[in-house]
Amino acid sequence: MYKSIVFIHILSSILSIGPFFVLFVVLNQMKGKNGEVLVSQIEVFQTAIRIVKHAGHVLVVSGILLVWQGNWPWSTSWVVMTLVVMISSIVFLARAFKPKIRQFNAGIIDSNVLIQRLRFSVWQYIFLLLIMLWLMVAKPNIW
Ligand code: HEM
Repeated sequence: MYKSIVFIHILSSILSIGPFFVLFVVLNQMKGKNGEVLVSQIEVFQTAIRIVKHAGHVLVVSGILLVWQGNWPWSTSWVVMTLVVMISSIVFLARAFKPKIRQFNAGIIDSNVLIQRLRFSVWQYIFLLLIMLWLMVAKPNIW
């Protein structure tokens, strides 16, 4: 049972990080496009974010189950640090993508600014996920 949860946990971590790399391709294709083509590419972008969001929920639930069923107490430093990074990235994800797309739809920013800002957010998010991945794999004793 525990091994199955570890498997689900790792699978959801792959689905949380993987789609972001596809987003770079989508962002490159969005350059210089407008009208319906651009709208459909933004939809692909939003679908990828949705997958990441659902995978993130599975990641958290399976992580909680692992701590509950396993030998790592909640006070373990790498678990605490992962939670800290995770909570800050949840706050970040809520503001990173949707408001920018909404600003574009409202005509406040143009497609070049949108692409630039989304690219920056994707890098920030990958960076946060890689910190968490490192904490999980290296399990450092920080205190
Ligand atoms: C609520 C947050 C999380 C909790 C409570 C949590 C908990 C855990 C625990 C207890 C283990 C140890 C399983 C074992 O070796 O017996 C583990 C492993 C793992 N976690 Fe998480 N996790 C969380 C979030 C994450 C995130 C955000 C990622 C990726 C970005 C991640 C990726 C992994 C990976 C790849 C492993 C396997 C590491 C290994 O076995 O060496 N986890 N997690």
